[in-house]
Amino acid sequence: MKKLHELISEIVGSAFAKWGYSPEYGKVTLSDRPDLCQFQCNGALAAAKLYKKAPFTIAAEITNLLKEHSDLKEVTCVMPGFINITLEDNFIVNYINTMSNSEKFGCEEIGTGKTIIVDYGGANVAKPLHVGHLRTAIIGEAIKRTGRFLGYKMLGDVHLGDWGLQIGLIITELKRRKPDLIYFDSGFSGEYPGEAPFNITELEEIYPAASSNSKSSSSFLEEAKQITFSFQNGHRGYVALWQHILNVSIDDLKKNYASLNVFFDLWKKESDAQPYIPKMIGDMKDKGFACLSDGALVVDVKEADDIREIPPCILVKSDGATLYSTTDLATIIERMELYNPDEIIYIVDKRQELHFQQVFRCARKTGLVLPGTKLTFLGFGTMNGKDGKPFKTRDGGVMRLEYLIKEAGDKVYQRVIENKDITGKEAVEISKKVGVAALKYSDLSNQISKDYIFDVDRFTSAEGNTGPYIIYTVVRIKSILKKFTAAYPGFSANKAVIQLPCGESERNLMLKITQFNEVIVNSFIDNAPHKICQFIYDLSNELNRFYYENKIIAEENPLKQASWIKLIILTRDILTSCLDLLGIEVPDRM
Ligand code: ARG
Repeated sequence: MKKLHELISEIVGSAFAKWGYSPEYGKVTLSDRPDLCQFQCNGALAAAKLYKKAPFTIAAEITNLLKEHSDLKEVTCVMPGFINITLEDNFIVNYINTMSNSEKFGCEEIGTGKTIIVDYGGANVAKPLHVGHLRTAIIGEAIKRTGRFLGYKMLGDVHLGDWGLQIGLIITELKRRKPDLIYFDSGFSGEYPGEAPFNITELEEIYPAASSNSKSSSSFLEEAKQITFSFQNGHRGYVALWQHILNVSIDDLKKNYASLNVFFDLWKKESDAQPYIPKMIGDMKDKGFACLSDGALVVDVKEADDIREIPPCILVKSDGATLYSTTDLATIIERMELYNPDEIIYIVDKRQELHFQQVFRCARKTGLVLPGTKLTFLGFGTMNGKDGKPFKTRDGGVMRLEYLIKEAGDKVYQRVIENKDITGKEAVEISKKVGVAALKYSDLSNQISKDYIFDVDRFTSAEGNTGPYIIYTVVRIKSILKKFTAAYPGFSANKAVIQLPCGESERNLMLKITQFNEVIVNSFIDNAPHKICQFIYDLSNELNRFYYENKIIAEENPLKQASWIKLIILTRDILTSCLDLLGIEVPDRM
């Protein structure tokens, strides 16, 4: 269904047209001064320039026409030429009744027929997930879900890092510890064991050890580079070990992501793109895009109006090794071939911006994507501790995701057990869910590109713009409905109709609900999940005000009561749907 502001813009636009102006000037927006009116139109100011009239004269002409309109309760014009509009309650109520009877609350499926790949997660195998991976997983999941709600075919790809030096480092360390493993026997030509020679705990311990050895010993690093090279060129034993590393890590990653309510459609890896590289390089050379520079093969990606120097995109280093950018370019070819997406969105730390700028330019210049294929880099800011520095554990190490989730859950637990009804296993389960919700919401409520301060106390609080506050509001509605159903077992919400509002708080709640459609579309188009957070925060505030001012269960007028029940059901459903788009689950009680 059309968005509410579009419907009003049409009404105002036809008044402009009646006076011979373009209907374009009739666009309305939410009022900046909700104390004066609900919507405003500033079109007379713009029209004045073109039609060489005083803006106030135009505004007055339009206002006079609109005053007659049955859907508008009040229309006034104010200097220098603003038009202030307040709707008839009837109009608002009809709108939300239609919303409540429509699939997806009447939200338009603007994405039908379009495919978007979301490249997020980006974990590196054999390295534990840490807070750096938290943001990409949370943001990507929300964007994927929102797009899917709007009818896009969304493919979330974890794009695992499984190809770089880290593999060589792990194998080198493993060789140091267990030199007798069959994988290191170059004379062996039989089948390798199906069972990995390590479990996830060992594997996670091996990587940091290897990494620190490579820093203190240049021969260790040299060997790791050598092994990486042999592995990338098909050394049987190393490839078999790599397969074990992959299997063990992926099982563990899936568990970790699931605990965050994050699920990928594709578990592709950097290694999957490697087969595309030789032909890609050949083509780029043949077509004259790639040239040698200091022994390396590069593609120049400078553009005339660059304000800063953009270095060339390196395809092959002088020692013959390919790079991160080579893999990303080949991945684009792979994705175009397999999925032919209309857009690829990369959700990666904003410090990788230059890399993506080079890759995107190179892909366009060399024709890896169609001219209409969008390549979007969504760089996110750093999660900092209260000291303003990148988030660390108390002893200065990198914080692991599991600990973070546990810390948030523990904080919430203290609050949950204050409610004496909830105990034991249920209390633990609820705390976990709300803890994850708090974590995710605090991330999503910030603008993606901004750094933010990670403050467990603040974001697990049940007050303010926090996950627990929103969840608390949903749980409150659920508990009112439970009481109501117990008192009136025969009630059917389907038959109920939302009636005209009885007061200001009810009207404000209704008006807020009408914005749903617009908010979801804008949040997706602008890649801005924080707009959904802001909306559900406002909606929760309106619901809570309405709740304090009205006694729903004790209401004696049955028509009014049924209307209120229907209204809070609609609010509950919209809040729950929005939370689901953000990848946040709601417990039944709290
Ligand atoms: N694995 C990479 C990292 O940890 C992130 C991958 C991002 N995606 C991509 N297509 N490059 O930095």
